[in-house]
Amino acid sequence: MTTLTASIAGFDFDNVLLNAAGVYCQTASELDQILEASGAGSLVTKSATPAERDGNAGVRFAEMPLGSINSMGLPNLGLDYYLDYTITHQDEKPLFLSIAGLTKADNLAMLRDVQDSDFNGLVELNLSCPNVPGKPQTAYDFDTTREILNEVFSFYTKPLGVKLPPYFDIAHFDMIAEILNDFPLAFVNTINSIGNGLVVDPETDTVVIAPKGGFGGLGGEIVKPTALANVRALRQRLRPEIKIIGTGGVTNGRDVYDHILCGADLVSVGTSLYFEGPAIFERLNNELIAIMAEKGYNHLDEFRGRLQTLA
Ligand code: FUM
Repeated sequence: MTTLTASIAGFDFDNVLLNAAGVYCQTASELDQILEASGAGSLVTKSATPAERDGNAGVRFAEMPLGSINSMGLPNLGLDYYLDYTITHQDEKPLFLSIAGLTKADNLAMLRDVQDSDFNGLVELNLSCPNVPGKPQTAYDFDTTREILNEVFSFYTKPLGVKLPPYFDIAHFDMIAEILNDFPLAFVNTINSIGNGLVVDPETDTVVIAPKGGFGGLGGEIVKPTALANVRALRQRLRPEIKIIGTGGVTNGRDVYDHILCGADLVSVGTSLYFEGPAIFERLNNELIAIMAEKGYNHLDEFRGRLQTLA
């Protein structure tokens, strides 16, 4: 009998899949579809700011060969909306509430609200949105990341993880892991989109999205090797208690398998969910189960993190 169960910080998930923040998670009706989707073990809400935001103007999401580019700019309905939603549904499945303040003060204020609320799920502190004009991705600034986590953990006691941008250098894997290991994090989610790519439309000789002159975050199939490298590198460096949500490049069951092989505990799906809808979760689970059956595995623990290297 094959099981796809996983656990993070004492929360048990019936299976490993969930949406990536930003996809199918801005409104209650989208979130309901993930909550009810057969095969989704959890959901994460759109990253919240303290108040509702429209996000960036103009065309802000486009398909491209092997993926997508977006510069949404954190459109969301505000923290209270997502707190209400998650508190209402938290007895149905373990849920992730994502927050992304535009300043340290915003993040601390939102976490104080969550701390004082009835929310009893997991918070994902998004330190990696690449799409707010004038705001760099926080987790590329190692000193600021440490400073924020120091302040957060001076008062926040509920389970908390961070959403990270992709890192591209072995020295940077070492540096971010050294910081994260100093805090009682429940998980990290890696990777956010690959920030500030640019796609040209050959028909019009223009960029394909409007905000930031066409610069935007890349997602989908094209980011899978970067995502796997970040999952693997962090799994090799983080304390075992810090679990990993692998995000990036999942289009089929083999992609889910590869994330788990590199060390992911849960796996989230963004671009493919956007195009295929919540029915994707059942397909991915079926494909994953078929691969596990071929290899004689009944449980994810039998291959999680067991990637082989060459001599
Ligand atoms: O632009 C956005 O809303 C994206 C957010 C993110 O990548 O975290």
